[in-house]
Amino acid sequence: MRRFSSMAGTEQIEYLVIGDPVAHSRSPQMQNAAFEFYGMGSPYGKLRVDPAKIGEFAEYARTRLKGVNLTVPHKQVILPFVDELSPGAAACRSVNTLKIEKNRIFGFSTDGAGISGAVRENFGLELEDLHVVMLGAGGAATAIAFETAARHSASLTIANRTLEKARDLAGRVGSFAPGFALEVCALDDRETLGRALSRADLLIQVTSLGLKETDPAPMDLELLELNPKLRVFDAVYRETPLLRAARALGLPAADGREMLIWQGAASFEIWTGKPAPIEAMRAGFGRSG
Ligand code: ATR
Repeated sequence: MRRFSSMAGTEQIEYLVIGDPVAHSRSPQMQNAAFEFYGMGSPYGKLRVDPAKIGEFAEYARTRLKGVNLTVPHKQVILPFVDELSPGAAACRSVNTLKIEKNRIFGFSTDGAGISGAVRENFGLELEDLHVVMLGAGGAATAIAFETAARHSASLTIANRTLEKARDLAGRVGSFAPGFALEVCALDDRETLGRALSRADLLIQVTSLGLKETDPAPMDLELLELNPKLRVFDAVYRETPLLRAARALGLPAADGREMLIWQGAASFEIWTGKPAPIEAMRAGFGRSG
């Protein structure tokens, strides 16, 4: 316990983002900008937590913290230590936000709010009625898939390297939203993916490809030429080969920045009950350090 409090920094820290690694996280700048907006100081820090120590961390958080954000690889391993899950977090079996009240740990997923906010902010669209193609079937993809179902998108095609994982995700979303038009394919299935992209309104890239400069594109980029009305969202927070190719074709394209801001905004509202000061959070996110 002592170990966590000394690693977390000062005694004023009441909120933490944890991950492994976590050094790159901009959540402290963004969340502290929101707390400062309301004159609540800068109570938010970051801490690297070894996934093997997550139980020990949960017990520390239970008595010492008010809120936690979780990033890779903690979003699932925390589940056994959460006392109560929100319906959204229970559906996607993933939490990125903990709220602690009277020593009880409540778990939420704000990744869905993140994608909805990003699509609204970047493209001026709601997910409702959109034909969506999503690349990836991991943790973040799971939250996005449930959000498209909950927001009544017109259809969702899930393309993943491992087809079985796409099938499993589609099965879970289908049970949650019977009648929702779902389709799966492999990332390299040009025919199915091409057909889905031809009629899609929105492509969401949420594989881990693109995090590294040397990563290949997640799909055949020539398929982007099939649909001049496509919008392209890449959850990676950098200019990826996919985004470069989309922009070269004149397609509206956006990186993952707004998704991070809107999911952080939803966490702030869960903790404080106050409307998130989006502009302050966006400015904080862009600040270095
Ligand atoms: P996150 O929480 O960021 O979603 P994750 O749950 O580890 O991370 O999911 C990673 C996603 O990126 C998965 O869809 C994964 O595909 P598999 O299900 O086949 O593993 C995808 N991914 C990772 N490396 C990839 C690669 N080299 N090529 C294609 N897809 C990849």
